[in-house]
Order: sequence, then C-alpha cells, then structure tokens
Amino acid sequence: MRRSWVSIFTVYAPMLGVPVLLYLYIIFNAFHLGTASNAVLYLSMLGLAVFAIVGFRDVFIDRQKPRHFLDLKEAAGQTVHKTDMDTTTHEDAKIVEMRIKRFNPQSKLLEENTYRARVDRYSSVLDTIIDIKRKQDPTIAMRYSCRMGICGSCGMVVNGKPVLACETNVFKNMKEDASISVAPMQGHPLLKDLVTDFDDFFSRHASISPHLHRTDETEKYEAKKEYIQTKDELNKFLPFSYCIMCGLCVDACPVVNVNPMFIGPQALSQVQRYYADSRDQLGERRLDMVDKLTHVWDCEFAGACSVACPKGVDPAFTIQMLKTEIVRKNLTGK
Ligand code: SF4
Ligand code: FES
Repeated sequence: MRRSWVSIFTVYAPMLGVPVLLYLYIIFNAFHLGTASNAVLYLSMLGLAVFAIVGFRDVFIDRQKPRHFLDLKEAAGQTVHKTDMDTTTHEDAKIVEMRIKRFNPQSKLLEENTYRARVDRYSSVLDTIIDIKRKQDPTIAMRYSCRMGICGSCGMVVNGKPVLACETNVFKNMKEDASISVAPMQGHPLLKDLVTDFDDFFSRHASISPHLHRTDETEKYEAKKEYIQTKDELNKFLPFSYCIMCGLCVDACPVVNVNPMFIGPQALSQVQRYYADSRDQLGERRLDMVDKLTHVWDCEFAGACSVACPKGVDPAFTIQMLKTEIVRKNLTGK
C-alpha cells in the first residue's frame, strides 16, 4: 500500500506541479521579479521532474515485471505463512526416467519407451507424461480430463500398482535409480498406448440399474415433494456413492483378471449403494439381481479392489454386505 501512495504522489504531483510552476515562471519573468526567484523555480521544477521519473519507473516499468506470489500476497494485505515459503526451486528439481509401456494396436504388443523428464516435488505422473508428450513425443496416447482425481479417466499402472496418474506424485514413487514405470491398466481391453476400452466396464455398471427406482411412476413427471432423509439414512449409502468409475478396482481384482464372467467389484459396490438408499424401492430385487455365481459368489474377498480404490468406496466390504443380506433374506424369507 505504501508503495502505491508513493507512486501516486510522484506521478500526479509533477503532473499538476509542473504546469503551475511554468505559469508562475512566466508571471515572474513578465514582472522581472529577479534571478533568485527564477533559481527557486528551476530547482523546484528539477525536483518534480526527478519525482516524475521515479514514479514513472515504479508505475509503468516495475509493475510490468512478474512479481513473486509472496510479494503479491503481502501487497494484498494477506498473511504470508511459513508454508508459503516452501516453494519449489530449481535446486530441488530432479530428472526422472519414465519407462512407459505402450500398447501397439498393430503388433498387439506392449512396447517400452524410456524418456527423461525434469520434475519437481509437486509433479504428478500425469503432469510428467503430459510434459513428455508436449516436448518429446506427441504420439503418446493417454486419457485424462480433470487432473484432480475427480473424473476417473487417468487410471494407469504405476510401478505395478493401479492408480490415478494425476494423484500419484513422482518424487514419492521414484525408485532408487530415479525411474518410474508406467503401463496401461490390464483389467480392461487395450486400445492404444495407455488408453484402455471402458465399454464393457460401463455396460456392467449399467446392468445393475444404477438409479433410484420408485413405484409411483407419476412422481417422475409431477414431483410434489422432496425425498427427506435422516443423517443415518444418508450415511448408509454415502461412502459408496463416491465412486468415480475409474475402474482401478476392476484392474486390481485377481478374480476379474482370470474370470471375465465375474461382473467385478465396481458394479457390485453400486448395487449396495442403491440397495442401502432409503429412497430406492427396488428393495430385495436388487439382491436377487446379484445372487449369482458370476456376481457376489465369485468374489473371493481378496480385498485388492479396496486397496486400489482412490475414493475409499471399499468394494470388498460392500460385496460382503450384499452376501450377508442375501443369506439373511434366504434364511428368514424377508
Ligand atoms: S469403486 Fe473405487 S476403484 Fe472402483 S471404480 Fe469406483 S472409485 Fe474407482
Ligand atoms: S485426470 Fe481426472 S481423475 Fe485423473
């Protein structure tokens, strides 16, 4: 703030002062008021001109320079925290060796390409691949959108684990030889390089009727009131509704990988999501839907799906909940 007041003074004071002094100079000369007065006027004009040069530099040159964000925070009157100082510098940048396995649709083989890229402590695997694609090899095919763990489209296998590339930090996953291996997900058909085909995954999801069913069909067209839920009712299905359909659980599941008929953890977790929702009226027909060998009974409770899930949906647990409900229904008949 102090700086801007100085700028205003040094620019606007000469703007007004110089014409006034010139006017006085002309008056003094016209009335021959002596050399002493002229000297004072000359010195004042010189002083104002220096002010103007300083102000011009401050306003029109210094402000064009990019400022550090901490200066901007300070100028805006915001508190500068100690953690703000923890910024990446060139000193902590590193060179990583990215070993990218790319699926070649012509040869139907995975071919490994190695790239070297500059990364810093905040770089994600996705950032690094995008950087490589921009600067070194525009032919790499990968899928991504949000770059913040929301859209679920950047699933890849990094150092042997299925993860969201945008949420995987390079520094934390670098091996001792400063390398990282990246491959496409194996639990889905491969299309090109790191891109996999999700058609089958989406149709399995669609097969479990992933929407609320109501017996009163007229509600759809003439809604009269909202469906009020208590906090407990909400908590029964909320964790399972966080699924972003990234397919990592399917990729991690050892059963899906040997038995393609198994519907997989993602679709089953979404059965529980709707079954547990008090607004849904499909009821136990949802249990009948999955009471099959290719559905809940194929799950061997390996738990790899829950470990891979980036959203804490815990598909392995939901499948066991469904099994328990099916057994309860079969034993009690209700
Ligand atoms: S359950 Fe988890 S891992 Fe599976 S698709 Fe949903 S968010 Fe992804
Ligand atoms: S790019 Fe959207 S989840 Fe990674």
